Amino acid sequence: MKNYLLPIQALPVPQTSEELYLDLLKRCLTRSLFAKPVVRHTINPRSLHLRMANKFIRAVLRPLNLELVHCRRSDTSDYIESTHEARTRHEDAETMVGLKQLDQMQAAITDVTKRNVPGDLLEAGVWRGGMTVFMRGVLKALNERRRKVWVVDSFEGLPEPQIDSFGWRKGDMGVSLDEVKENFDRYGLRDDQVVFVQGWFDQTLPVAGIEKLAVLRVDADLYESTQIVLNNCYPLLSVGGYAIFDDYLNLADCRRAIDEYRLEHGIRDPIIPIDKRAVYWIKSETLS
Ligand SMILES: C[S@@+](CC[C@H](N)C(=O)[O-])C[C@H]1O[C@@H](n2cnc3c(N)ncnc32)[C@H](O)[C@@H]1O
Repeated sequence: MKNYLLPIQALPVPQTSEELYLDLLKRCLTRSLFAKPVVRHTINPRSLHLRMANKFIRAVLRPLNLELVHCRRSDTSDYIESTHEARTRHEDAETMVGLKQLDQMQAAITDVTKRNVPGDLLEAGVWRGGMTVFMRGVLKALNERRRKVWVVDSFEGLPEPQIDSFGWRKGDMGVSLDEVKENFDRYGLRDDQVVFVQGWFDQTLPVAGIEKLAVLRVDADLYESTQIVLNNCYPLLSVGGYAIFDDYLNLADCRRAIDEYRLEHGIRDPIIPIDKRAVYWIKSETLS
């Protein structure tokens, strides 16, 4: 069995109690701490016939306290990267992203705090909320009491896609607000520095009352959702702040929305890859 506790690349080996807490938090949120060479996932087929067969078999097995599961091989790298092979990780993890992205988020929040870059932290597209739980955890570890974490989602999954080359469907990845709040509670991190914003981005973001951001993370999977978040939130990002995009390298529609926005506003800050999916840049000037 491989060693799942290898130090991850972006940060030095944790030494202080704060660093050790954040290290453990990352390994819990991704479930890398509990990783095994084979993971068992409930079967959730897309085709109607297979769904019906699955339902029937489940009904037969339930009285016997048996369950039908899909066994998949798992590897250390599945927990480090944020590839769509997240399926080969534990299915109950609170975030889809891997350890590299959590490391980068920790480094980004630590950096804006050290440099006194003004503003809050925001994630648009939170699913089960794991990344935002982590953002709050980093603020706690840094004893940073002024900044808030904005947790922005429909809490009912994706809207009907308008432009989509991937095959998303309305409602995909729907997780309720209650479930996300419960996940914060589970880690003891729900308090008045966490603001939940529920609804479609185009309706909520313009009126949410966000004043200034030091870290903006966009993880919305769709062209138009990414575009809406950029239009509403990028102007609020302080110079010296981090713009982080989960799907730049793996979803062509998201990349296009981001490239178009950069072109339209003459943004030339270098794009830095985080893992096989995500990138970031540091905002160097206010928008023209
Ligand atoms: C890939 S998931 C986010 C994953 C999460 N950041 C994590 O760390 O695991 C995408 C999320 O974006 C949300 N979303 C996408 N477009 C949206 C929109 N227009 N309005 C509100 N929520 C949206 C979905 O509800 C879903 O929860």
